[in-house]
Amino acid sequence: MILLQDKLFQRSEVHIDIEDRGFQFGDGIYEVIRVYNGKSFGMAEHMERLERSAKEIQIHLPYPIELLVERLNDLVRATNLKDGQIYIQITRGVFERMHHFPIHPQSTLVAYTKETVRPIDKMENGISAITTEDIRWLRCDIKSLNLLGNVLCKQQAKEANCEEAILIRGNTVTEGSSTNVFIIKEGTLFTHPANNYILNGITRNEIIQIAKSEYLPIKEEAFDKEMLLDADEVIVTSTTMEITPVTMINDHQIGSGERGPITKKLQMKFNEKVEEVQNATN
Ligand code: PDD
Repeated sequence: MILLQDKLFQRSEVHIDIEDRGFQFGDGIYEVIRVYNGKSFGMAEHMERLERSAKEIQIHLPYPIELLVERLNDLVRATNLKDGQIYIQITRGVFERMHHFPIHPQSTLVAYTKETVRPIDKMENGISAITTEDIRWLRCDIKSLNLLGNVLCKQQAKEANCEEAILIRGNTVTEGSSTNVFIIKEGTLFTHPANNYILNGITRNEIIQIAKSEYLPIKEEAFDKEMLLDADEVIVTSTTMEITPVTMINDHQIGSGERGPITKKLQMKFNEKVEEVQNATN
């Protein structure tokens, strides 16, 4: 089943026009929302970010957020999704191809669900990453459909048999190609501040909250490649990767080469939040 605007359809019934601006220009926004045991995680935060992204590029949501949340819940039920994700995208709609905005755009909203297993093995044993130049535009805070820079960096990681590309702009580590990055040095967590150079991740904010409630020192401060490689622990975070340790970067071992104690603690606390969602009654 697919949510198109505010109605559910079979996938074969849904057709998107070739002049949809999402298709031609990547002129739209999206969200990926995790579902655990049929219940969404951080729906309010995802909807807040979706509204913000829409506002930043002057896309009008086709109907109110409250109704959208209801429709997304209907979609989860209709697809009988237990563990997986909801993908939603909203584009500036269909119009004869021209770069500037149409005068009365009618946004296209599409959402579907997908089963996804939690990356338990990676969360326990870690992943390898490369560093590469952050070649993206200067509004990475908008969750835009334009992901070409991210795609090219992720492909570079894949070709190096790695899971993630950690992006570096100038001397600064910004984020991963589809994740936020944290380092831990002598007990202190560092992550890039939430500005136009990164996407302000929902998982990132969960970790900041956990760190604060556990009295772990945390600095939302930029750090460089040297600090990254010299860190005791490095983690990447996202809706689908959750909290995944990076144990190898550019063939250089990070810390002990295994998941570190602070990573483990953050994962444990994050898991408690997941369990709360899994056991919720509605
Ligand atoms: N990616 N930074 C970038 C560039 C991302 O694409 C993502 C998420 C994140 C983490 O954000 P969050 O914790 O809200 O998922 C950071 C999603 C999952 C994707 O594109 O599939």
